[in-house]
Parts: sequence; structure tokens; C-alpha cells
Amino acid sequence: MDCIEAIMNRRSCRSFLDKKVEEDKILKILECATYAPSPANKQPWEFTVVLDREYGKRLKEESEKTKAYLASRSGWKWLESFDLDFVTQAPVLIVVTGDPSKNGAEQFLNEPGKCYVDACSAAIQNMCLAAHSLGLGSLWYTLYEKESAKEIFGVDKDPVGIVCIGYPAAPPGVTRRKSLEEKVRFIR
Ligand SMILES: Cc1cc2nc3c(=O)[nH]c(=O)nc-3n(C[C@H](O)[C@H](O)[C@H](O)COP(=O)(O)O)c2cc1C
Repeated sequence: MDCIEAIMNRRSCRSFLDKKVEEDKILKILECATYAPSPANKQPWEFTVVLDREYGKRLKEESEKTKAYLASRSGWKWLESFDLDFVTQAPVLIVVTGDPSKNGAEQFLNEPGKCYVDACSAAIQNMCLAAHSLGLGSLWYTLYEKESAKEIFGVDKDPVGIVCIGYPAAPPGVTRRKSLEEKVRFIR
């Protein structure tokens, strides 16, 4: 699949078939993740590939609590009907953890940012695009408290995101984009 086509047609998937994902596809997705750019090529990411659905059940339980907390703080009514079943449906969860000590040049600046998070995010995007080009659905998932995710998956670094992957059970919903006119300014 052409790169532009993959970017334009990837959509978040929140409904997965009960169908195993081939290991060679999982490995290709992980390899694509490692080709993301990173500060000073520090490659601050690590990947925990979860194929045991029991972990998804625990994540969903924790996410329900996070969702309730978020609903109470934000007042977002739509959250009430936001079903988290996809967390247990997805046959593959990939927990992407980032190492804050691998921040590249940023850690020596006066205002250190979070370049390791940026790099992990680039890796996640590569994974979502790779999954799409391999005929799989994916979701970039963050509805969890980080300490809970660390405990569930036995990771000690920053769990920047969890990528849910599987064969899509339904065509993705439509998500609209704002126009370039609204978002772009040229300086000529
Ligand atoms: C940093 C980040 C965190 C996200 N967290 C969640 C999440 O926790 N749950 C979820 O359902 N979608 C999550 N998403 C997916 C967005 O909702 C989705 O990308 C957005 O609505 C645009 O839709 P599209 O991906 O189908 O184009 C996240 C996306 C990003 C970039």
C-alpha cells in the first residue's frame, strides 16, 4: 500500500474479530515501530506484546474506573455510552513504554521537554499505519492511569500508549478533518 494512501485511510478501530493475528504481521508492525525517528537516535521505546486476553480484562476494569473519574471531572456526556469492549476483544495489545532518560539533547536544555514521549508517539503512529497496510485495525489507547498500567503489565518505564490490534469487525466510523485553511499559515 502506498504511504499516502495508508495515512489517508487509516482510522481508529474499536471493534475486533475473534481472529488470531499472524506472528509475522506482529513482528513487521514492531519492526516498523523501531524505524520511527527519535532524539539523538536514542530509541527510547520498549514494547510489551500481550496475547493473553486476561490482561485485556484487567485493563478494561481499570479503564472503567478511569472513565468514571474522567466523566465526573470533564462532564463529557458521551463517555456514558463509550463502550470499552474493544480492549478485551483485541487479540493483540502492544504496550509502548518510554525511557525518560533517553531524551536526547533535550535533557541538557534549560526547558527540557519530553522528547522520549514524542519518539514513542512516532513509533505508535508507525505501528498504526503498518497495521492498516497489513489489513489490520488498530487503536491508539490511553484511557488508563499510568501506575495501574505499570502494575498490570509489569513494566517500570512510562507506559506512553497501548496499541490495540486485530482484524476489524466493522468498517471504521467517519472522522472529519478541519480544513487546511483553518490550520495552515504560510510565511513566504
Ligand atoms: C495520544 C492519543 C491518545 C488516544 N487515546 C484514545 C483512547 O484512550 N481511546 C480511544 O478510543 N481513542 C483514543 N485515541 C484515538 C482518537 O480518538 C482518534 O485518533 C481520533 O478521534 C481521530 O480518529 P481516527 O483515528 O479514526 O482518525 C487516541 C489518539 C491519540 C493520538
